[in-house]
Amino acid sequence: MVKKILFVCLGNICRSPAAEAVFKQKIKERDLEKLFVVDSAGTGGWHVGNLADPRMRETALSRGIELTSRSRKIEENDLYEFDHILVMDHDNLDAVRLLIKDHKNTVNSKIKLILSYSKNSQLEEVPDPYYGGQNGFDKVIDLLDDAMDGFIDSLMD
Ligand code: 4NP
Repeated sequence: MVKKILFVCLGNICRSPAAEAVFKQKIKERDLEKLFVVDSAGTGGWHVGNLADPRMRETALSRGIELTSRSRKIEENDLYEFDHILVMDHDNLDAVRLLIKDHKNTVNSKIKLILSYSKNSQLEEVPDPYYGGQNGFDKVIDLLDDAMDGFIDSLMD
């Protein structure tokens, strides 16, 4: 069965496109591409249609990861379409949960903080790098790289 995975942040131009690309690279390395549909989205719509932020693209590319996705805004339907929704911070979690209109639905259980799968970090959130310096972009990739191994391992159980 194909599993559908959606990564979510605020603008969908820094953290979640990086998460999407890191995930895609790791499943490619493990020859698992056929098992997944992968996408990313933002809770805000300011950058819809845009490629990822050039700073995020350059940082990822320096690690051999290419970001090609274009920003889109998450829709209520995504909550039912995707099997796993991985968000970057608590604000994203609140914003995504606000989209749930039918509270009888069990959709809540598949929305998680990506860093809940971290193996080596105690952080709960991937810090937003947008208004900061280069360190923030490097940190995004480091945190995602670590958490993604844990997430993929959990999918294989
Ligand atoms: P992201 O970063 O949520 O990781 O894509 C941001 C991108 C843009 C903005 C904020 C955060 N913004 O305010 O435009």
